[in-house]
Amino acid sequence: MIGFDESLLDDADETVRVRFTINGRKVACEVAPRETLVDCLRNVLELTGTHAGCEMGACGACLVQLDGRAVHACLMFTVQADGARIDTIEGLTESGVIADLQAEFHRRNALQCGFCTPGMLVNAHELLSQVTRPSREDIRDALSGNYCRCTGYEAIVDAIDAVAKARIESGGPT
Ligand code: FES
Ligand code: FES
Repeated sequence: MIGFDESLLDDADETVRVRFTINGRKVACEVAPRETLVDCLRNVLELTGTHAGCEMGACGACLVQLDGRAVHACLMFTVQADGARIDTIEGLTESGVIADLQAEFHRRNALQCGFCTPGMLVNAHELLSQVTRPSREDIRDALSGNYCRCTGYEAIVDAIDAVAKARIESGGPT
């Protein structure tokens, strides 16, 4: 017969203090050791633009920037982000760095329900930060980890392609 160690229950309420800079603000919070970053962002910090979809790294709805690189917030424990700089869709929006992408998505109807859109924008921002003029193939490849169940990808690829072109013509991000 397998015994049950009641002392293990003592750890159930344990919390860990975590500090990070989120969207330019220093934040400290108490989290459960196994709480994922996406749950912390949404449920503790009320940054609900980051979505929880598959929660297994497949759909891209939870993408945020961690120290300048896109990461899946569903695949990280919050404690792993201790000391990091995190930028969510809210911060990227407020700073204006993705304003041209957002405007182009809007102009081309590259979203319907919008559930996938924050992750799409975080990923598009990452792509254009690294590749000035990606081909349509490059864009499709970069978006291969972002699922959209309503729009279809053509308008999304068109929007990112148009922004890449416009940034080159204007000499940089708007
Ligand atoms: S919720 Fe993280 S990849 Fe789907
Ligand atoms: S716009 Fe609805 S999932 Fe992409």
